[in-house]
Amino acid sequence: MSAQPIFPPLPLLDAERSALLARLTDGLDASALHWISGYAAGLAARGAPALAVVSAKDRDVDVAPTRVTVLYGSQTGNAKREAERLAEALRGEGADVRLVRADAYPTRELADERVLFVVISTQGEGEPPDDARGFVEFVSGRRAPKLEHLQFAVLGLGDSSYPQFNAMGRILDARFEALGAKRLFARGEADVDVATVAAPWLVQAREQVRALKSANAASVVPTAVATASHAAWHKEQPYAAELIVNQRITARESTQDVRHLEIALDPSLAYEPGDALGVKPRNAAAVVERLVARLGWSGHESVRIGDEIRSAHDWLEGHRELTRLHRGFVQQHAVRAKSSVLDALLAADAPAFNDWLTARQVDDVLAEFPAEWAPGEFVAALRPLAPRLYSIASSRKVVGDEAHLAVAVFDAQGPFGVQRGVASGFLADAAAGASVPVYVEANERFRLPQDASRDVIMIGPGTGVAPFRGFVQERSAVGAAGRNWLFFGARHARSQFLYQLEWQAALKAGTLHRLDLAFSRDTAERVYVQQRLREQGREVYTWLDGGAHFYVCGAIAMGKSVHAALRDIVIEHGGRDAEAADDYLNELQRAGRYARDVY
Ligand SMILES: Cc1cc2nc3c(=O)[nH]c(=O)nc-3n(C[C@H](O)[C@H](O)[C@H](O)COP(=O)(O)OP(=O)(O)OC[C@H]3O[C@@H](n4cnc5c(N)ncnc54)[C@H](O)[C@@H]3O)c2cc1C
Ligand SMILES: Cc1cc2nc3c(=O)[nH]c(=O)nc-3n(C[C@H](O)[C@H](O)[C@H](O)COP(=O)(O)O)c2cc1C
Repeated sequence: MSAQPIFPPLPLLDAERSALLARLTDGLDASALHWISGYAAGLAARGAPALAVVSAKDRDVDVAPTRVTVLYGSQTGNAKREAERLAEALRGEGADVRLVRADAYPTRELADERVLFVVISTQGEGEPPDDARGFVEFVSGRRAPKLEHLQFAVLGLGDSSYPQFNAMGRILDARFEALGAKRLFARGEADVDVATVAAPWLVQAREQVRALKSANAASVVPTAVATASHAAWHKEQPYAAELIVNQRITARESTQDVRHLEIALDPSLAYEPGDALGVKPRNAAAVVERLVARLGWSGHESVRIGDEIRSAHDWLEGHRELTRLHRGFVQQHAVRAKSSVLDALLAADAPAFNDWLTARQVDDVLAEFPAEWAPGEFVAALRPLAPRLYSIASSRKVVGDEAHLAVAVFDAQGPFGVQRGVASGFLADAAAGASVPVYVEANERFRLPQDASRDVIMIGPGTGVAPFRGFVQERSAVGAAGRNWLFFGARHARSQFLYQLEWQAALKAGTLHRLDLAFSRDTAERVYVQQRLREQGREVYTWLDGGAHFYVCGAIAMGKSVHAALRDIVIEHGGRDAEAADDYLNELQRAGRYARDVY
């Protein structure tokens, strides 16, 4: 269900045009609305009529625009970016493109859809991104219509180090076919180097749309195409930011090393509380040197991949994943190492193989199963080094042109010694004054309520508390009337109570209204935030019933437990059965009142 926009009386538009405008904008996401607004502004500036009917002769084309819907489901912005690229490319072909986020898509229109491109990532353990939950449920369910008139193609985004690689792309692709739709071309399954698969997939989509143009004589096309506004700094072109503060905020006796980082931003790098900062790390020089020595290279070998030529050392330090293994590399290595152990592992079931994979880094595999590699082949077998995201823990209204982060240093004991995460290690090792390549990854689904009088409930154990520091700063800066309730948890209060003094000061100042704590290893019985939530079930439900927004950030498993607790609260205190409780939570999610950022 999508809400019909309500327009104030528009003296310049008659009733018919007002209704047209309402229909046009119904269900569109923010980027499509911005596009329309930019388009209209461009026309106004040129003094041109809104849409020009262009004869086929004038345009040297003989077709009416093909109606195409580009639907995306995206958690951290990658699928959204590819969908926007696709929409722009198809508009360039003269197609009439509707770009829509999955949760803004009116599913009742699916039966009438003719050409649909779906770009969707996989999250959790083979789950849909939050914005596509409802759509996937609808399409997978019994209410899904027959789709014999539909032509479609799916681009999935995933990460091949997860056992359920691209599960969502696969599920939707198969389901559309089962519902009778015709696949335009094969599903794309993008890995962390998204463009390798997404770019050729997009070219195919473009070619298909060109081929689909019907033979109408006249076509209605926009005469001016407003280009979407792109941030100057983005994933492919990060900003070299200066690190100002790098401070450990867990006590020395804590096994967990969490850093509070303050990073100076270019003023053009705007963010909202809830957004994340993308960090492009470098592998530690010592890790690269050990690897190069093990492989018997000097590191100066020149390696060309595509158009880029760099030394082997440079490729490994700045451009290749050395900490996260993936099946493709292990497969190639098994052939070189001629190892029956590796062959057996590759033939094992997915969970067993994944356990083995996550316990090792590239160097561990080389140490355990020696083999010869030429530098070029080795670099080509590894995946490009992907940026990591960190929830921004500040509000610009309070900190100005800075972003603060709370980063847990990933340090695990592997079979061959301590394994460090590349990005958290890179950040932890960076001294004040160091340059850190960053960009802002907007998260439109994780936003404070526009109505500042609404209450908010925030569940953020561990570094999951980061965005809520930004939330409380922001709400305090704007003098929000709504109440703020935080649930925080960690193992020990003494050593891991992140931002303890700030929360206490906020409670005193009345900018934090409730703080519930769960320190799991300080008591004989382990207690977690989800238990605290259950204990406060009645009050939580009263807040929700009064219009509160509910946010969860942190580990995936915690997110699941909190969801289960919330569902039980809605059943018990809201007097609903299980199905009605699910509907209630789905509706909260759809309305932007239940948002999760789990990783
Ligand atoms: C939206 C979002 C917000 C986030 N916010 C924060 C935040 O505020 N604070 C914070 O500390 N973190 C946050 N994270 C997590 C962060 O992005 C990194 O994932 C984390 O810091 C680990 O990255 P790394 O490069 O240090 O470790 P990596 O180098 O990526 O991994 C280190 C080790 O982890 C193991 N491993 C873990 N998962 C896998 C897997 N799927 N496959 C294979 N190996 C695996 C491997 O053994 C590997 O060697 C957030 C993530 C997301 C998506
Ligand atoms: C918490 C988390 C869980 C993920 N789970 C999976 C998974 O099960 N399968 C997969 O193929 N990719 C998985 N991924 C990888 C994402 O699909 C990949 O990063 C994708 O590019 C994200 O696209 P988006 O930004 O549009 O959400 C996961 C990523 C995160 C952060």
